[in-house]
Amino acid sequence: MVTTLLDNAVDLRASLLDEDTNALRLVDGMGDGVQGFALENYAGKWMAMTPGGEIRADIKEWLKASGRSIYWKRLDQHHKESPMHLYGEPVDGAFSIRENRLNFEVSFSSGYSQGIFLDQRLNRAEVMQRMARGRKLLNLFSYTGAFSVAAAMAGAETTTLDLSSVYLEWAKRNFRFNGLDESEHFFCKGDAFHWLKRFAKQERIFDGIVLDPPTFSRDENGKVFRVEKDFGELVELAKQVLAKDGWMLCCTNFRGISERDFMRMINMPKMQGVKMPEDFSEDPYLKSVWVG
Ligand SMILES: C[S@@+](CC[C@H](N)C(=O)[O-])C[C@H]1O[C@@H](n2cnc3c(N)ncnc32)[C@H](O)[C@@H]1O
Repeated sequence: MVTTLLDNAVDLRASLLDEDTNALRLVDGMGDGVQGFALENYAGKWMAMTPGGEIRADIKEWLKASGRSIYWKRLDQHHKESPMHLYGEPVDGAFSIRENRLNFEVSFSSGYSQGIFLDQRLNRAEVMQRMARGRKLLNLFSYTGAFSVAAAMAGAETTTLDLSSVYLEWAKRNFRFNGLDESEHFFCKGDAFHWLKRFAKQERIFDGIVLDPPTFSRDENGKVFRVEKDFGELVELAKQVLAKDGWMLCCTNFRGISERDFMRMINMPKMQGVKMPEDFSEDPYLKSVWVG
């Protein structure tokens, strides 16, 4: 019975949820024996995800019976709209989730993505471990600045960079949300390649650099970025602003590249690939490589 599989998946993850962390993936497709269905928990509100089509009737019944606020995101839609309300109390605007004692703003009504990628939980914790007062972090392709918040909470001075001013504002709210003073940190709007060249000219050096770009993007001048073609160049530019004993975190969720080929593109000494969090039990699509 699919409902037994769903109950088991949720039970299996119960020990990962506590007052410090209230967001994670509850069901991960065939990793939990449930084909084509994933479910994420954001502080008790649930986001169902399917690769397309409908949600099976028995899964819908199970969702409805939970009494939760439930939204649904189709992963195949072209227009990248906000998820659809399915059951329970509608969620009004933004709300907060907790992860490893950090607070993050999440929204089910601000477009396709919710404000945080839960598959980066362990990497955010590791960034926090590696950073300390007096250290400098550069977070490229920052989105809502979750890696920056993790580093800043460890005392680091952070530089948060994204093409989108909407996401940079969201990042600043995430700073404030954690009692951090955003005026002690840097926020840069624009293309990562452009800024890396600028930082190199200014001889700005960072102790840690996070490189977690989208698979494909187009900047404001129409310049296209593709992981499989451009990641090597990104690393070369980042190397020029990395401290001698510094580290880099290189990530991609592009399914068309293996960890081995990704490491070939990074092409640095002392590389170590790490696994995804255990709640992501299906396909290890996220490749994360620590350098240095
Ligand atoms: C997949 S998200 C990155 C997730 C983020 N690293 C995190 O952990 O939350 C991609 C982000 O890259 C930004 N972006 C895309 N192309 C960019 C570019 N050329 N330079 C800087 N940011 C870019 C997008 O605006 C978006 O916020």
